[in-house]
Amino acid sequence: MAVKYGADLEVVWLAAMLHDIARLEDLEPHDEIGSEKAYKILIERRFNLELAKEVSSTILTHRCKKYAPETLEQKIIATADAMAHFIPPFYFWIGKYSNKSFEEVLEKNRNKLERDFNEKIFFEEERKLVAIHYEILKKWFGFQI
Ligand SMILES: [Fe+2]
Repeated sequence: MAVKYGADLEVVWLAAMLHDIARLEDLEPHDEIGSEKAYKILIERRFNLELAKEVSSTILTHRCKKYAPETLEQKIIATADAMAHFIPPFYFWIGKYSNKSFEEVLEKNRNKLERDFNEKIFFEEERKLVAIHYEILKKWFGFQI
């Protein structure tokens, strides 16, 4: 997507590599903490200050929760993050590593699936790429169709 849409490859690549870095320590909110950690890591390794800021802000917006993506690079990372969720076994992995009941996991997955598909994918071609997975997962999670 970075090449296809003409984004800054270095920002996208570094943000892709570092966007979930706070998850290594189970720190939440991992977008906010990860954005600070990534900035610090990049500065310590003498990356350009502006590049570190761009990567940090891209990580901050990757979940589309508290902060919405605005730049092309931010939209690409949020989209790629959402698209990765459509590759099995992501949604099943959520259930495996939670202490929720099966019904609670299904409810959480239904909500996440809708958010991923409808709110986190910023490009129509990419939405079409995962559309069949979206339809199948909706059936799995017991949506009323
Ligand atoms: Fe994340």
